[in-house]
Amino acid sequence: MKKKLIMVMIFSAMVLMAACNSGDADGQEVYTLQAGHSLPDDHPYHLGLLEMKENVEERTDGRVVIEVFPCSELGAERELTEGMTLGTVDLVVSSTAPVTNFVPELAVLDAPFLFNDRESAVEVLNGEIGNELFDALDEKGIIGLSWAENGYRHITNSTHPIEKPEDLKGVKIRTQENEIHLAAFEKLGAQPTPMAWTEALTALQQGVVDAQENPAIVADQYSLYESNQEYMTLTGHVYSVAIYMMSKQTYEELPEDLRDIVVEEGERIGAVERDMIVEMEKDSIETLKEQGMEIIEDIDVAPFQEAVSEVYELVEHQELLNKILDAQK
Ligand code: PAF
Repeated sequence: MKKKLIMVMIFSAMVLMAACNSGDADGQEVYTLQAGHSLPDDHPYHLGLLEMKENVEERTDGRVVIEVFPCSELGAERELTEGMTLGTVDLVVSSTAPVTNFVPELAVLDAPFLFNDRESAVEVLNGEIGNELFDALDEKGIIGLSWAENGYRHITNSTHPIEKPEDLKGVKIRTQENEIHLAAFEKLGAQPTPMAWTEALTALQQGVVDAQENPAIVADQYSLYESNQEYMTLTGHVYSVAIYMMSKQTYEELPEDLRDIVVEEGERIGAVERDMIVEMEKDSIETLKEQGMEIIEDIDVAPFQEAVSEVYELVEHQELLNKILDAQK
């Protein structure tokens, strides 16, 4: 019995090793990369990774295989980021907010109402400023492949329509694990609690928090109306920037010809993902309405902007922040 158990353990270990780095029929090395993110398998984060997988596997004749893990299966966004710095996760797509815990320069992107519009955001990120931010990632062992997005963040809640900042007074709201977001909601008079998305749904269902803020596509894909969320106010307070990233350790372990292909495919996927978000965002708002959620669409954002303006002072990299503002004048 004991002997049988040992045989099973040896066999399992062999299978595991084969999954990471194995030979193909021609005796060539096969590299298996693990890609993780926090959203479901019909979200553009995932669809983008699947497209990247298909292209990489085809162009490398199967010498690089990408396994894609949705729904935080490899960890929540903060853990995934840490995993890349340690070389335990190869590829990640994540919103930038939790990545700031490792790369503080990215916090400039969390300043509320930062971008005039989506086009300006894309122009800034795909230009010199975006490259500067990718250099900061590189210093922490992460390669920025391309800029993506999750849409504009809006507020949902279980108790009443939010039309002006005063309506947020005392509202218990889940925020991302990000100091600027936390400070902004404090300025608005709410009671913010930062937590990973993996904990947020239970917190909403159990009434630990009344509210959360995320793009409409997240509210739709997670059926937040079933988690007590009856109202959604289209504040669009943050353009939720995301990044396709690769662990520098993984990059260095891959032979040059293969890593060039992975990087090239990673570089083009952000734009594809962004188009999918724009397309799906409108449908998500319609679905939320059909499911009975009250959508507060025509609000005056100026008082919200005014209330959070002081959090700009908390941004550590002021020079970078001013560069972003100047680029949009
Ligand atoms: O709110 C968050 O934590 C993020 O927006 C999410 C849902 C994980 C997507 O990046």
